[in-house]
Amino acid sequence: MTTETLIDEAPEQAAFDAVIEADSRIEPRDWMPAAYRKTLIRQISQHAHSEIIGMQPEGNWITRAPSLKRKAILMAKVQDEAGHGLYLYSAAQTLGITRDEMTEQLIEGRARYSSIFNYPTPTWADMGAIGWLVDGAAICNQVPLCRASYGPYARAMVRICKEESFHQRQGFEILLTLMQGTAAQRELAQDAVNRWYWPSLMMFGPPDDESPNSAQSMGWKIKRFSNDELRQRFIGMLVPQAEVLGVTLPDPELRWDEGSGRWITSEIDWTEFHEVLAGRGPMNAERIRRRREAHEDGAWVREAAAEYARKQQLRDGGARSLSLSKGVA
Ligand SMILES: [Fe+2]
Ligand SMILES: [Fe+2]
Repeated sequence: MTTETLIDEAPEQAAFDAVIEADSRIEPRDWMPAAYRKTLIRQISQHAHSEIIGMQPEGNWITRAPSLKRKAILMAKVQDEAGHGLYLYSAAQTLGITRDEMTEQLIEGRARYSSIFNYPTPTWADMGAIGWLVDGAAICNQVPLCRASYGPYARAMVRICKEESFHQRQGFEILLTLMQGTAAQRELAQDAVNRWYWPSLMMFGPPDDESPNSAQSMGWKIKRFSNDELRQRFIGMLVPQAEVLGVTLPDPELRWDEGSGRWITSEIDWTEFHEVLAGRGPMNAERIRRRREAHEDGAWVREAAAEYARKQQLRDGGARSLSLSKGVA
């Protein structure tokens, strides 16, 4: 650090604090504390990786969707997730990390992504449960991020949230159709809800008293609500919807407590959460292996695109020097 930056930092920190205080936005060229930049790079890149890895469990069913209509909807949904990944990688790039660095971190197993995508999708009903529960939890998490203090992240989230609500509805509708079908179909739907319910609650992260970075993120207005608050909100959304569906949420302790104004639940199995997060979930190795394969298979596309861009630049450069030599600016 030079003497100049040391002297300059105080007024810049004050300007930064004022922007945060006023609920305004920090933009890529603005000064920001190094820790704020680092936190955002970590959060946005993890979020981008989650969108991209999240394509796999559902991509698994595109070729086996039960009808043409279901296949078209599922394809659109999985493509949306690819788009979310791209917006988010772009938002992270504005903070000074390259796309290649992020990809490398992911395929080398050094980056984290949402642990929910390390669970398998053995039945069609999983497409319903993922849409309803996983995209539902994503919405609860992401709607407040539309007001995050970093401009490019917040703006990416606005578009993403609109698409997530379509995702949740399509999942709900898959489950509703199954629940109105045969006994075997109802069983399939209930089984999928049983498997995805607890992991979806874990998507909000550890309990507030074990989430040391949350306070700083809330101070910076990246995060607006605590993990437990968001989890409560999510349960409140699920309970009436489960009733409409006719599915049971797999928690015998679940009830509304009038006194505290909170949902009471059984203990969440955080050991499972930490195991999956540490890379020991049922599908971790498979997800990374497939991502690495896709990256290697796509090398020729990246090379072709770079070559095309190079030729384009040569042609443009050539045209410009030609027009300059003719005196046309
Ligand atoms: Fe998404
Ligand atoms: Fe989604």
